Amino acid sequence: MGRMTDRVFLISGGARGLGAAQARLLVAQGATVVIGDLLDEQGQALASELGPSCVYVHLDVTDEMQWRSAVARAESLGKLHGLVNNAGVYKPLPLVDTETAEYERHIRINQLGTFLGMREVVAAFERTGSGAIVNMSSTVALRSAGNAIAYTASKWAVRGMTKGAALELAPKNIRVNSVHPGPIDTDMLNVRSREENLRRVQQVPMKRLGTPEEIAGLVAFLLSDDSVYMTGSEVAMDGGAAL
Ligand SMILES: NC(=O)c1ccc[n+]([C@@H]2O[C@H](COP(=O)([O-])OP(=O)(O)OC[C@H]3O[C@@H](n4cnc5c(N)ncnc54)[C@H](O)[C@@H]3O)[C@@H](O)[C@H]2O)c1
Repeated sequence: MGRMTDRVFLISGGARGLGAAQARLLVAQGATVVIGDLLDEQGQALASELGPSCVYVHLDVTDEMQWRSAVARAESLGKLHGLVNNAGVYKPLPLVDTETAEYERHIRINQLGTFLGMREVVAAFERTGSGAIVNMSSTVALRSAGNAIAYTASKWAVRGMTKGAALELAPKNIRVNSVHPGPIDTDMLNVRSREENLRRVQQVPMKRLGTPEEIAGLVAFLLSDDSVYMTGSEVAMDGGAAL
């Protein structure tokens, strides 16, 4: 891994799951991490556990003012080098059963949240001189997936925005890449029954769920100087699920 000390990273949805694993890994690599989430209790507990190199802030990713405060807090701790747009919601439903409010909820959190995060961090990265953004998409944005119309729409948007932003921001020395996890063992999968999840695992060529730590390793790589010539890339980590 490249040098991560003296670097500050902001992770949305970092109180649990994939975001929490990213925070743990980055802190272990010597970085300072700000985690933003709605889950104040879990976020505070994680920050206390990780010590002074981890700070929790309340951040609703659909609120641009809260993004501004989170970025300002991160900048107050040192040079802001990276953002992970990791916060997300997942409620898989077929097209005809998806109510407008549920569709809009996915778009607001997964899509608008990612847009706001990217927009609000650019000025800080310009002050730092460089930056890296990782947007959490999904294998559903690499191939077709049924019965999750709202989630699929939001994650294809994240994939598309990543490429547009990468093109725009490359001259500013800001890289933007998307990560496309397959099924990973987090609370997000509790939306389905255990039996349904076991059945889905059998459809994964590697026949197992991924772990949050495995995805964290990829995210840390994309945030580090080891990936310095990568931008606009979409990277799957999915046990072959998108094949
Ligand atoms: N677990 C998987 O199988 C999987 C697969 C593909 C992609 N992903 C993506 O990875 C990301 C992390 O998911 P996870 O598996 O850790 O799920 P998770 O539900 O454990 O974590 C999601 C986090 O986002 C937070 N969040 C939700 N709405 C928010 C809002 N408005 N503002 C701020 N934070 C908010 C939640 O409180 C939670 O801490 C999501 O974007 C998800 O879509 C997960």
